[in-house]
Amino acid sequence: MKAPEILTIDDLQFQVMISEDEIQQRIAELGEQISRDYEGKVPIMVGVLNGAVLFLADLIRKLSIDCEIDFIKISSYGNARVSSGEITMIKDFSADLHGRDILVVEDIVDSGLSVQYLKRRIQNMKPSSLKFVSLLVKKGAAKVELNIDYVGFEIENKFVIGYGLDYKQQKRNVNAIYQLVE
Ligand code: IMP
Ligand code: MG
Repeated sequence: MKAPEILTIDDLQFQVMISEDEIQQRIAELGEQISRDYEGKVPIMVGVLNGAVLFLADLIRKLSIDCEIDFIKISSYGNARVSSGEITMIKDFSADLHGRDILVVEDIVDSGLSVQYLKRRIQNMKPSSLKFVSLLVKKGAAKVELNIDYVGFEIENKFVIGYGLDYKQQKRNVNAIYQLVE
């Protein structure tokens, strides 16, 4: 969906934080960097459902190397705007990750608990390498120490929607990223 200036859900208003052009420009840069770093390899790009679907779809089309894709689904948010901190696996990996180069594709890193959970789980499967790419990382929000290998944008600690990110499952299909007007 084309991006309007303001999005409204219930009584909440959201304003543009990152435009469609800025998102696409940054994804092209990430695609180049990842292609260089994985030259001669065929990584498995693991998208974390549902939020990372748009980002993964755009990112893999900016790669000049071959890749495979897989998806997992974990939940920690429900319909709330704050993470419950409890993570459950809803859909597990389909691919065999053993001995492979794994690049996990996330929409946003907030508390970092999801990434920490995924890191542990994937390391148990003995991949050849494991890295993370996240379109967004919230500044100062991490509750655990972690290293995200590729970061699209570092953003203020605000609730955001659009471009895959939702509030009550809505607005994933808008081409820009919006922040809650407080
Ligand atoms: P974390 O485990 O707290 O780092 O949260 C990770 C997941 O929560 C992300 O992959 C998103 O799906 C969701 N999330 C975190 N912050 C936001 C937000 O501002 N808007 C929408 N979803 C979010
Ligand atoms: Mg997510």
